[in-house]
Amino acid sequence: MKMQNKVALVTGGALGYKSGGPSIGSAIAFKFASEGAKVVVIDILEEMGKKTIDKIRENGGEGLFVKTDVTKTNEIKKAIEITDQKFGRLNCLVNCAASYEGDIFKNIAEISEEDWNYIIDVNLNGYFRVAKYAIPLMLKGGGGTIVNISSAAAFKVLKNFSVYPVTKAAINSLTRTIAIDFAPQIRANAICPGFVRIANSEGNRTPEEVEQWIEGIAKTYPQKRACTVEEIANVALFLASDDSSYINGECIIVDGGRIISDTHEF
Ligand SMILES: NC(=O)c1ccc[n+]([C@@H]2O[C@H](COP(=O)([O-])OP(=O)(O)OC[C@H]3O[C@@H](n4cnc5c(N)ncnc54)[C@H](O)[C@@H]3O)[C@@H](O)[C@H]2O)c1
Repeated sequence: MKMQNKVALVTGGALGYKSGGPSIGSAIAFKFASEGAKVVVIDILEEMGKKTIDKIRENGGEGLFVKTDVTKTNEIKKAIEITDQKFGRLNCLVNCAASYEGDIFKNIAEISEEDWNYIIDVNLNGYFRVAKYAIPLMLKGGGGTIVNISSAAAFKVLKNFSVYPVTKAAINSLTRTIAIDFAPQIRANAICPGFVRIANSEGNRTPEEVEQWIEGIAKTYPQKRACTVEEIANVALFLASDDSSYINGECIIVDGGRIISDTHEF
């Protein structure tokens, strides 16, 4: 029980969008709860957020959902206040909430300022805001750990997907800033996943189209498959718990070796 007596807050922890399959945040919430943590999940999706907590409770764990939009400071403050009232402490924050809303698969000449700013506001400023208001409660209890879910896209840009890599590179920098400013009480690290299979992969595709799409991406990975949400949750548990007690300010790539590989063969 690596998270016994710990209270963790996970942003973006709703149980997927459509099929109720797992998101990365929900998998982290389940993993932490199974290791003894009391888990506060925040997300804009109320029904799916409550489903994450239902599942935690079905498995004998303890948790709480607070509907929260990470672009809204008052809602974040309220969620932290509720966490304090209910559990009296916060030992771990996992920033995971991210949006893909808008017409964002575009280069910078084409993307609208409105779409650019919204993605920056959720995917980058959201991480800053939640950390900003969570840190005082963490410090009140003696400190803790922050795990920011970044992306391998922080290191490699994606064609015609300009804003997303920008947010992820900045999240890595934000992680290092927190790591230095709040050591030794708080350790902060980031996870940079490659392609992870989530419920949301479905979009408007048929199940067969989803499989073909995933297979097409997966074969470009040395492991020849997509990462699972559980494989990300395992790394999150490591970084959140004392198992990683001397790791601070690291951005760990979890992409099965794709970023270091080249398709060129001799
Ligand atoms: N799936 C992948 O291949 C992959 C790869 C690298 C990094 N990531 C990162 O992992 C994290 C989790 O993404 P996921 O793949 O599980 O996708 P997801 O869309 O299932 O999860 C994101 C969650 O964030 C929530 N959210 C969106 N806007 C919000 C807001 N304003 N306030 C609060 N919550 C909000 C959504 O409702 C959703 O539940 C993201 O940071 C994403 O960038 C995912």
